[in-house]
Amino acid sequence: MRVLISGAGIAGPSLAWFLARAGILVTTVEKAQCLLPHGQSVDLQGSARKVIKKMGLLDEVLRFHTTEKGTQLIDPKGRPFAPFPVQKGFSKSPTSEFEILRGDLAAVFYNATKDHPNVNYHFDTTVKEVISNDNDSVKVELSNGETQTYDLLVLADGQWSRLRKMCFPPEAVKVVDKDMFAAYWTIPRIPSDNNLWNIYAALGRRVVSLRPDPHGTIRVTITRVPLNEAHRQEWMEAVRGDRKTQEKLLRKEFADAGWQSQRLLDSIPTAPDFYFQAMQQIKMTKWSTGRIICLGDTAYAPTPLTGMGSSLAINGAYVLAGELSKLKDGEHPSKAFDRYEALYRPFVEQKQYVPSILPGAVHPNTSGHRFLLRVLSMALSRVARTPWLVDRFTKVFDDADSEDFPLPKYDAFEDGQTVGSDSVKS
Ligand SMILES: Cc1cc2nc3c(=O)[nH]c(=O)nc-3n(C[C@H](O)[C@H](O)[C@H](O)COP(=O)(O)OP(=O)(O)OC[C@H]3O[C@@H](n4cnc5c(N)ncnc54)[C@H](O)[C@@H]3O)c2cc1C
Ligand SMILES: *[C@@H]1O[C@H](CO)[C@@H](O)[C@H](O)[C@H]1NC(C)=O
Ligand SMILES: *[C@@H]1O[C@H](CO)[C@@H](O)[C@H](O)[C@H]1NC(C)=O
Ligand SMILES: *[C@@H]1O[C@H](CO)[C@@H](O)[C@H](O)[C@H]1NC(C)=O
Repeated sequence: MRVLISGAGIAGPSLAWFLARAGILVTTVEKAQCLLPHGQSVDLQGSARKVIKKMGLLDEVLRFHTTEKGTQLIDPKGRPFAPFPVQKGFSKSPTSEFEILRGDLAAVFYNATKDHPNVNYHFDTTVKEVISNDNDSVKVELSNGETQTYDLLVLADGQWSRLRKMCFPPEAVKVVDKDMFAAYWTIPRIPSDNNLWNIYAALGRRVVSLRPDPHGTIRVTITRVPLNEAHRQEWMEAVRGDRKTQEKLLRKEFADAGWQSQRLLDSIPTAPDFYFQAMQQIKMTKWSTGRIICLGDTAYAPTPLTGMGSSLAINGAYVLAGELSKLKDGEHPSKAFDRYEALYRPFVEQKQYVPSILPGAVHPNTSGHRFLLRVLSMALSRVARTPWLVDRFTKVFDDADSEDFPLPKYDAFEDGQTVGSDSVKS
């Protein structure tokens, strides 16, 4: 079987790993010149950790830990009032033992597959056109002019996949707006920075946060909930605009936000990785058409609000590869696509659920609201640091270690040689 994957983010390389393991030949095309190092810390939930363990890459993931030691909420002067330290064994914190940057995680999967004889990566290359997608094969024209034929094509090229637009009718794809905006970038570290996730809620529905990374720099996230419809439109306009427009809007609205806002705004022009987005989910009526299937953000982007983007992509890659590995010679891949979707869609829909009041609830507009959040988070912080309370109320905090999606077992991935990063090179 020959598989073409579009996109080398999280979903693409993790799928390539399992397909290669099952003896399937994989070609991956990636639009960027090299693996994109962009992105902030991502969460890895229970089942995704199990999948990474099956790949033998858990130690690699831990090696690229962001160095974050916990989370704390701070006031306008930077003084912490609700700490959530990571303490092995019992504590519950928004910081987990598996904090890794999106870019480092992508590199872990890429490094573990790039030298495998079954896997090929082509950077600076895209699928220009799908020439045919019929009962026997899928034929594509690549941006380098080549025409190639594959057994199937996987769209793993992210939330705004252009290929998805070309292959599926508009009514098959729904974009669900979550009424929240975010900007991310990286800044130089200064001596007063610490190794905690510092979260500051300014008034007027604005939140600013700083997190450490393992590369000696600091990652900025700014989020905001619009105050009314006209305001929302202004931000949407900026999403569609260029970096200058986005910077201007941020300067206008965050200059008076307090804490370190001025330092962060001043660093935008020199940031290597500025990224500005509206929180929007992708929902598709069906993930496949003929021999083409969507995976990861392309099929079901959940937004960072859920903390599930990477986990969904990784679990999805495992199930899709597993179902493909079960196909008999000559069987149509749609059989595997349908089983993957039947098995996985209920979990995806559950994880895409975001209460509509959530963005507003954590972005206080008034000092009364902010005071309420402060009292609540201080109480939570106290509970999270008390072992017997955590034991009793462990359900209150999502238990990230348990298997949240029951992983099916696939013979192709159970025994035999491990295709981990070490064995590939030897
Ligand atoms: C730059 C960037 C930063 C991100 N930052 C965060 C973050 O801070 N926090 C968070 O929770 N999530 C972030 N995400 C989203 C997160 O990566 C996904 O939710 C999740 O990991 C699922 O990944 P994916 O592989 O489906 O999609 P992505 O990680 O988006 O990967 C898609 C890949 O496809 C490539 N691509 C796009 N178009 C084409 C094309 N036409 N042909 C070939 N390749 C193409 C892209 O360059 C990219 O490498 C970010 C994504 C990107 C691209
Ligand atoms: C991937 O490999 C490159 C080159 O060998 C190395 O510099 C990088 O640190 C590796 N990254 C990860 C996340 O393993
Ligand atoms: C936010 O607060 C401002 C000033 O206190 C007020 O005018 C505005 O109506 C509030 N907006 C929302 C959406 O609560
Ligand atoms: C479609 O392909 C399958 C094998 O992949 C074959 O069994 C079947 O007869 C084909 N159907 C048509 C209509 O060509």
